[in-house]
Amino acid sequence: MPSLSPKSATLQESPIRKLAPLARAAEARGTGVVYLNIGQPDMPTPPEMIAELHGLALNRLAYAPSEGIPQVREAWSTFFSSWGIDFSPDEILVTAGASEAITFALSVVAGGGDEVLVFEPCYTNYLSFAAQADVTLVPVTLKVEDAYHFGGADRLERSITPKTRAILLCNPSNPTGTVYTDDELDAVARVAVEHDLFVICDEVYREFVFDAGRVVSFTRYSDLAQRIIVIDSVSKRFNACGVRIGCMATKNREVLNVTLRFCQARLSVATAEQLMVVPMLENGRAYSEQLCVEYQARRDAVFSGLGAIHGVRPHRSEGSFYTMTRLPIDSCEDFAAWLLRDFSHQGETVCLAPGEGFYVSPGLGLDEVRIAFMYDSETLKRAMGILDAAVAAYPGRLATEASNS
Ligand SMILES: Cc1ncc(COP(=O)(O)O)c(C=O)c1O
Repeated sequence: MPSLSPKSATLQESPIRKLAPLARAAEARGTGVVYLNIGQPDMPTPPEMIAELHGLALNRLAYAPSEGIPQVREAWSTFFSSWGIDFSPDEILVTAGASEAITFALSVVAGGGDEVLVFEPCYTNYLSFAAQADVTLVPVTLKVEDAYHFGGADRLERSITPKTRAILLCNPSNPTGTVYTDDELDAVARVAVEHDLFVICDEVYREFVFDAGRVVSFTRYSDLAQRIIVIDSVSKRFNACGVRIGCMATKNREVLNVTLRFCQARLSVATAEQLMVVPMLENGRAYSEQLCVEYQARRDAVFSGLGAIHGVRPHRSEGSFYTMTRLPIDSCEDFAAWLLRDFSHQGETVCLAPGEGFYVSPGLGLDEVRIAFMYDSETLKRAMGILDAAVAAYPGRLATEASNS
């Protein structure tokens, strides 16, 4: 048999999905599984979006324009302006989710082993996007002890080399729920200017900021506009992951022109799905604000439930709909498998995302897990009770007093 490409060996199996066969087997045995591992919103897609789809009078599904349907680019522009973000329709390219936009952005600003800085733990698919774009991700490691904040510019500066081309910033963060402070964003901006870097801003969770409700968009650095590439998506804010509509927005003409060639090579994004998101983009603020209130209540349920587990000092997520936490367990990967294979509490168990897969650096995150808030607060409270019982029963439990100290 001919061998596969070197690149095929660089793509990692999704740490979020690889436990799926064990979860299915647990369910087949009659054990209920609470899925804390995956960021698939549980609430219904807005009826306005579904109604729009049903009302579309399409009798010929031709290729849409590669840059996106004009009406949809307009709608994204309206959406951005509702956040005080200025992108005209011709500064926006519609993509197949944020995923495609990130892969394009990385491919346009870097390649051939160029480096892009990223805070870790990070969204796990960044590793695969970078591999596809032939980009080396250079991690700046954040610690739970610092609530996954990096503080100032020093940490970034130390990771910069002549090959660094960009900083990939996810704010609010998946997987940690970090919302970076003004000082931290200032530091990113300063470093980008001093070292002549692009900033790829993944803001797909922009709406989901808890407690203070600050606006977090990096586009506030308008003097850096030529360096800024915004990544966005309808997936999470409108409970519409399956629609696969996102966008890339920038004021940099050269970046737009080259990205458009990538768009042309994949021809177009699905027509009906583009059109169905228009009403929510134009008028969806109230919908996502109410989602944020719900996620904050869920965050509180998870935070207090984790706090009741002996040996766990939970991290308080500031936004998105995830938290990372350290458990008093030697290997969370083994623990997650054990939970599905060997454990149940009152007929149920939980499926966790082991922390290791969210790190670029090998060997980190072994004692961490990511938890997504994809159930109502009552179910999440019950899930934390299951986790508590599991941590107490697990043979690989470590004898620490408070793990997130
Ligand atoms: C931080 C982040 N960026 C991008 C994506 C991809 O989003 P999309 O569904 O729009 O491709 C996700 C999905 O979970 C995400 O968490």
